[in-house]
Amino acid sequence: MNAAVIAPQLAPSPAVAAFLKRPPRLLIGGEWVDSRSQRRIPVIDPATGGQIAALVDADQNDVERAVKAARKAFESGPWPDMLPSQRQDLLLKLADLIDQNAAELAELESIDNGKTRFMAGLIDVPGTRDHFRYMAGWATKIEGSTIDTSIGGPPGTKFHAYVRREPVGVCAQIVPWNFPLAMAAWKLSPALATGCTCILKPAEQTSLTALRLGELILEAGFPPGVVNILTGLGETSGAALVSHADVDKVAFTGSTSVGKLINKSATDTLKRVSLELGGKSPVIVLPDADVATVVGGAAQAIFFNSGQVCTAGSRLYVHRKLFDQVVEGVVTAANSMKLGPGLDPATQMGPLVSSEQQQRVMQYIESGRSQGASVLTGGETPSHPGYFVKPTVLANVRPEMTVVREEIFGPVLVAQRFDDINEIAAVANDTPYGLSASIWSNDLRAVHRLIPKLRAGTVWVNCHNMVDPNMPFGGFKQSGHGREHGRAVIDMYTELKSVCMSI
Ligand code: NAI
Ligand code: MG
Repeated sequence: MNAAVIAPQLAPSPAVAAFLKRPPRLLIGGEWVDSRSQRRIPVIDPATGGQIAALVDADQNDVERAVKAARKAFESGPWPDMLPSQRQDLLLKLADLIDQNAAELAELESIDNGKTRFMAGLIDVPGTRDHFRYMAGWATKIEGSTIDTSIGGPPGTKFHAYVRREPVGVCAQIVPWNFPLAMAAWKLSPALATGCTCILKPAEQTSLTALRLGELILEAGFPPGVVNILTGLGETSGAALVSHADVDKVAFTGSTSVGKLINKSATDTLKRVSLELGGKSPVIVLPDADVATVVGGAAQAIFFNSGQVCTAGSRLYVHRKLFDQVVEGVVTAANSMKLGPGLDPATQMGPLVSSEQQQRVMQYIESGRSQGASVLTGGETPSHPGYFVKPTVLANVRPEMTVVREEIFGPVLVAQRFDDINEIAAVANDTPYGLSASIWSNDLRAVHRLIPKLRAGTVWVNCHNMVDPNMPFGGFKQSGHGREHGRAVIDMYTELKSVCMSI
């Protein structure tokens, strides 16, 4: 199998090389500043394991400064007085700047996260641009309502009552490392459309595109303090933002365990909390499905972004009739995937984001092996620097095995067969997660009967991992709270104010 041959990483373009040389900084109050602590976090290229830059490790004092700047920008200066159409124009300008710098952003994302530059250029960067454009439109479409009341009083008493929708305030936005730029857009764009101010904390593994985005935000002309960007560790700067009394809302995407910590910590100040957490999404193949379509779709569902996707289709359930053919097809697809560094155009799958993630994924594979799973392909790391894991398919698994129950967040698929289509919903729902699911079938009756039974925030039919800024995104059960995208996210970044006037 050619997956073992890994090419060397290519040199970055002059623009990216220059960006990597810039001194580490935080964006606070419209200025690029250092931390007084001068603590640093190394930036590692996951394709080589080598250090390519450094980040500021923001401390408590930086958090204080950023929250103060965001509060000031929320309450005074140009931002609160801006017309909705002016907020829209700023967001559109930012989207144009993203477009103009698309190649540089895709390259940065690739060397920071490990994903291919090709995919970053096809999915992450245009998706980010489109998200800002979509949310720009919401700025001018926020509305309240008038209310008929039944409040009594002496004859002639009259009231005029209405509901205003107002920005929730200062938002702490903590994002993960799997889609760094896109996750920043999912968080920042609705907050800016509604008139909130933000402190964005990118993941310590992947902060480069957030910092580049910060430069474009200033270039677009957002007033100082509207967007602040703190690089730093989750346990310190992230936790300090979540517990800060002057932060009104926290929006988080990441692990379920940290999501639970955040939910608890935010309780002390009763912050608004939205959480987009892990998943263990089923890919359900009904007996009538077209095998070739399913094979391509199931391979993409788990191997896209090296499996580091919250909605990854990590549990494959195939009807007995098609099981052998589908699994054989996915194994063949896995065997043919070319691993390599993200900048190499020949690469189909990049490394995992970090040594920690590579070790975590390998430990899961070992736990599967030791509990009796068969490794049909993959299951190892190529002997090469960088954090590669070969695309892996496990079979002969049982529902209670760790590899079936826990989110692995790597290119590891567990395949199981089923007999009775009336029982598949219960099997698919047998997980603490509920982020997404896909059904593969053209049997309308079966599909429509199954959709309402699946406890998941998104159900795809004959596709997987499709997202759109207008399609609510979020989880049932332990996959989170609230929905991002569409009208739903506007609700999450606004408060309702009832006004009652005696007239
Ligand atoms: P994580 O949940 O620790 O990190 C996500 C973000 O949260 C990062 O910005 C991090 O700095 C921040 N963070 C960490 N601890 C925090 C705290 N106590 N308070 C505030 N912020 C905090 O995820 P990690 O450790 O990088 O990955 C572990 C596992 O999490 C993965 O294997 C995967 O299963 C899951 N994960 C899920 C993601 C998703 O998209 N749902 C994304 C990333 C990880
Ligand atoms: Mg963590």
